[in-house]
Amino acid sequence: MEIFADTADAAEIQTWLDFGVLDGVTTNPSIMLAGGEYQLREGAKKIARLLGDRPLSVEVVTDDRAEMCDQALEMAGWAPNIVVKIPIITTQGEPCLGVISKLTNEGVRVNATACLSFNQAMLAAKAGATYISLFAGRISDEGASAYDVISNTSAWLKTWNVPAKIIVGSIRETVNVQDAALAGAHVVTVPPKFLWQMIDHKYSRFTVGQFLADGLSAAERIDALGLSTSGNGRAKKAPLARPK
Ligand code: E4P
Repeated sequence: MEIFADTADAAEIQTWLDFGVLDGVTTNPSIMLAGGEYQLREGAKKIARLLGDRPLSVEVVTDDRAEMCDQALEMAGWAPNIVVKIPIITTQGEPCLGVISKLTNEGVRVNATACLSFNQAMLAAKAGATYISLFAGRISDEGASAYDVISNTSAWLKTWNVPAKIIVGSIRETVNVQDAALAGAHVVTVPPKFLWQMIDHKYSRFTVGQFLADGLSAAERIDALGLSTSGNGRAKKAPLARPK
């Protein structure tokens, strides 16, 4: 399974790339705005460069399907790793399947975005989308089970050998990441604040502190006995406080 960062924050992207766990990035106009990336093209190019050959999803900014095609073709030219997000429908409920199909036939990788149901996901895959973005948080907002939508879509793609990949976005809690992973998502795109929460655990901190303190105590005894300390650490003693 791949992990993407759902952000336009270049520093966070670089950090998680350096940690060796980042496979790509997704953005949308709200994320770009929140990240201060008002100039879509320049912001996207900057992130695309950081990512090397990993994919960066950038979303079209229009409700008109002909314009979506034009914008997508332009965006795809900004960098070879750009994937264009096309909404599954317009604000008026008009299907964007023709846009997805046309772009796919022209060699543009499409991320069919704002999908909230199995049926939408199935149609996006049929139209040729490379990625299908299922918005877990927004599916739950509507009272449906995001887990079921993800696992049903995953099973259907597998049964019929359809190459589209599910990206689960709209993560609201760290538990959504593990639920999506276990439901069969190919990719989970995670806002950095949840990536930080995923790695931390207060009892891991305590455990690491306990071993460090005992290692340093051993070094003190070696000192007291006048033996060689080579191989024993000399870091400052970590304060030990058992988490509540
Ligand atoms: C990802 O591709 C989506 O754009 C994003 O996760 C949507 O999240 P939201 O529902 O929190 O806006």
